[in-house]
Amino acid sequence: MIRRPDGMRGATMTGTGMYVPDRVLTNRDLEHMVETSDEWIRERTGIRERRIAAPDQASSDLALVAAQRALESAGLSPKDVDQIVLATTTPDRFLPSCACTVQAKLGAVNAAAYDVFAACTGFVYGLGIARGIIGTGQADTVLVIGVETLSRIVDYTDRNTCVLFGDGAGAAVLQPCAEGDGILAISMGSDGSLGEVLEIPAGGSSCPASAGTVQARGHFIKMRGRELFKVAVRAMEESVRRTLEAAELTVVDIDLLVPHQANQRILDAVRERLGLPDEKVIANIERYGNTSSASIPISLDEVVREGRLKPGDHVSLAAFGGGATWGASLVRWTQPAPLKPALAVPAAAVREGGR
Ligand code: ACO
Repeated sequence: MIRRPDGMRGATMTGTGMYVPDRVLTNRDLEHMVETSDEWIRERTGIRERRIAAPDQASSDLALVAAQRALESAGLSPKDVDQIVLATTTPDRFLPSCACTVQAKLGAVNAAAYDVFAACTGFVYGLGIARGIIGTGQADTVLVIGVETLSRIVDYTDRNTCVLFGDGAGAAVLQPCAEGDGILAISMGSDGSLGEVLEIPAGGSSCPASAGTVQARGHFIKMRGRELFKVAVRAMEESVRRTLEAAELTVVDIDLLVPHQANQRILDAVRERLGLPDEKVIANIERYGNTSSASIPISLDEVVREGRLKPGDHVSLAAFGGGATWGASLVRWTQPAPLKPALAVPAAAVREGGR
């Protein structure tokens, strides 16, 4: 748990952006791929459809558009960025980092760039890092990105996982602000003993890629969803409460909760346990599925562009993911203007702009 120590600068979001690919994969489409039904998926998860990256789109291509939009909304150019903190489980390659690939495509020539690896909690961890860097004066402009092309690591013969995940990217620009504004408190946690509950067994140093690992489908996500469910609800609720306590606020002070979109039933359970009304909890899982580290910045950009946040509002961002990892960030909103509606730009435009 971190509160802003005396003497540190504040850090706030001055721009947001998102991008989702054009291709829509519906529950009906999945009915033709595995033994499932639209009804089961909607009832158990709340998902109707998810976006899937085009074959020639990698995570860096999705991240690029989200980053460009975030910088545009902040009125900044790529050269203004001091650091890029990119959260992902699906980098373009193991080496170099996805952040470095984005840095090159973006032309952020003055930025240090690196990846954060915390599954669905990655964006919240990224905000914690950015706040520390800005607070201590190591950087003035930090671009935090959450991006996933989960369709590349999902086994479309496994109905337990393939109905859940989608592709997308979201980004936020963080800059210094007055004390008492911006990120008021961050809570981050993990429990590595739960690692095997959600894992990709092969391809790393403990089980290097081989013909056998490919044959055994070891490079795809394996998940024991029921076990994660309970931990997710408890960890997200506790993370939100910890940040409130650190900021000397209570649940009634929350104007908007932007939770990681893992499952509508998880969102409902967290909302109930916190005692928040329906309209204060953002849910877009119906349209995008679970986009892991991208889900919070995508949701945040949507609410900003819909004009749902005004200066002084308290926004809570809460996540849970593989690792296990969890965390929350409590923000006193400072960004004034509602921006242009978020649009999914055509894949062709991304290719032209990004390569
Ligand atoms: N279609 C039809 N039936 C299915 C499907 C499907 N797509 N998937 C599972 N089932 C079946 C199961 O086989 C099981 O059948 P059985 O009773 O005959 O064995 C039955 O439905 C119930 O299965 P459960 O796993 O108990 O279903 P549950 O209600 O728990 O829902 C789900 C599964 C949606 C995965 C849920 O547990 C969940 O959302 N868990 C949390 C996931 C999560 O938060 N992950 C972390 C973030 S992701 C990240 O970090 C990358």
